[in-house]
Amino acid sequence: MNSVNRWAWVEIDLTAIKTNVAVLVKQAGRAELWATVKANGYGHGAVEVARTALSAGARGLCVALADEAHQLRQAKIVAPILIVSEQPEVAFEQMLRDEVVATVYNEATINSYAAVAARLGVVGTVHLKVDTGMHRVGVPVASAMARVEQIIAAKSLQLDGVYTHFAAADLPSHDETAKQQRRFDDFVAELDRKKLRPKYVHTSNSAALLRSLNAVTDIARVGIAIYGIAPSNETETVARGLRPAMSLHARVSHVQRLEAGEGVSYGLRTRLEKSANIATLPLGYADGVPRRLWSVGGEVLIGGKRCPIVGVVTMDQLMVNCGEIDVKIGDQAVLLGAQGDEVISANEIATRLDTIGYEIVCGVSARVPRVYFENKA
Ligand SMILES: Cc1ncc(COP(=O)(O)O)c(C=O)c1O
Repeated sequence: MNSVNRWAWVEIDLTAIKTNVAVLVKQAGRAELWATVKANGYGHGAVEVARTALSAGARGLCVALADEAHQLRQAKIVAPILIVSEQPEVAFEQMLRDEVVATVYNEATINSYAAVAARLGVVGTVHLKVDTGMHRVGVPVASAMARVEQIIAAKSLQLDGVYTHFAAADLPSHDETAKQQRRFDDFVAELDRKKLRPKYVHTSNSAALLRSLNAVTDIARVGIAIYGIAPSNETETVARGLRPAMSLHARVSHVQRLEAGEGVSYGLRTRLEKSANIATLPLGYADGVPRRLWSVGGEVLIGGKRCPIVGVVTMDQLMVNCGEIDVKIGDQAVLLGAQGDEVISANEIATRLDTIGYEIVCGVSARVPRVYFENKA
């Protein structure tokens, strides 16, 4: 299993992804599940996750970038791929050749995408993104009907969907989700009145699906949940049935016995209160372990026990205070995942760092080898 050229690696449990997707497909009911595999599958590997998710019942994929869609097409993945925001014009030809589902919302983008499609003699499939309150991208509700009519008038485009994205679905007590849903429902009702409703009308991300807010969606665009991570601490309960797919491992590369009062790592910012066995692990902030994790109580599992990171995380290495554990070079350490009965979750690390689990898994850098497995006993 661990035939990689360094003593730090990520394990991806594809069986966990398969099981999560199956659970979420069921939860989605009549809606299709489109697996969100942007950012290299939230750090898990876009192609591997896409194949696994599709084999478990996902009907399409979502990415952020034209090149992410292209990578999937090059891997011979033929499922629909929605790119969830507008791309620069330079990417349009590739997107059309890859037969992606393009997201559009600006008048000028619709015109130029239509022009490139016409020049290539193809029909570009598009979904119109409507901004119902998130205020990141999308056409404001007030102008959405004009964009629909513009797309329909362009003979080289096909309006296949309209959608919106929730700003706070991961915060169940926030009232904005219901407001966004109402604004979107009103727009869809107008589409219905004008007989312009496209094939897909969609809203839900992981949090919305897990909270059963998916009654009126035709596609659940699910990301974080397929990786087995709750969208937020507030949605932990509804995400209980999911299994994390990513774990981060290292082997101890060096051991020292240091005395009370000795400092560790750059700046010697911390002094040992007692003598201890200090293990060095050969991974650091260039691998995605935040430099300041030591200062917010960051821990590592060694010998089935939680051991604190001691001193700043350096670019390629970090040190762990193992106390009196008889730690040896080559011993296994877990930075994310389970060892024995102990578990360090992405959301635990995220909470320490005042961020979200998404950032932790996306942050594990490309230089950490990914090891894939299924059906681990
Ligand atoms: C438009 C859109 N849909 C769906 C998703 C998936 O979200 P989640 O990972 O919370 O399920 C994202 C992720 O950011 C997104 O931007």
